[in-house]
Amino acid sequence: QTDNIAYARSLIRTIADYPQPGVSFRDITPLLADGRAMHAVAHELLVQAQGDFDVVAGIEARGFIFAGAVATLARTGMIPIRKAGKLPKPAHRVTYTKEYGEDHLEVSPDLKPGMRVLLIDDILATGGSLKAGAHLITAAGAEVTQIGVVLELEGLGGRLVMPQTRALLSM
Ligand code: HPA
Repeated sequence: QTDNIAYARSLIRTIADYPQPGVSFRDITPLLADGRAMHAVAHELLVQAQGDFDVVAGIEARGFIFAGAVATLARTGMIPIRKAGKLPKPAHRVTYTKEYGEDHLEVSPDLKPGMRVLLIDDILATGGSLKAGAHLITAAGAEVTQIGVVLELEGLGGRLVMPQTRALLSM
C-alpha cells in the first residue's frame, strides 16, 4: 500500500506558470486516470479515517471524486458540498472569503443533525474551502469527525488553518 501511494504521488503532474506566472500547479488528473492509484488513494483515505464517520462529504469539484470513491468503498452515503446556486434545495449556506471577494458553499437537507462526517477534498492549499465546509457541516447540526485530503501543498498555510487534516501526500 505504501508503494501504491508512492506510485500515486509519482503521477501528480506539475505545470509551471499555471494559472498565473510563478505558480507551480499540481495537476492530479493523471492520478484520476489511473485505476491502481485511484483505488490506493480511496482505500488509504478510508483506512486513515478509522471508521470514525457515518457519511462522507466532498467539496466541489474535485473533492466529489474522492468522496464518492471513499463512500463506495465504505458503503456509506455521500453528501456534496456545493458552490452557491447549484443545489435545488439548499438547507444551509456559509460565506467565506477567497482571494478575490466572497463565495458561498451550500448543502442539501440530506445532511442530518447528528451525522458524523468524514470531510474530503483533493488538496489542502490555504485551507479556506475546507474550513468553510467544516463550518457548514457544523451549521447543519452534524459533526466533522475526520478530515482527509489526497495532497497537502506546503507553504500556503493550510496546515495552520486546518491542523486536524490528514493528508496522504505532501509537496
Ligand atoms: N493544484 C490544484 N489546486 C490548487 C493548487 C494546485 O497547485 N493550488 C491551489 N489550488
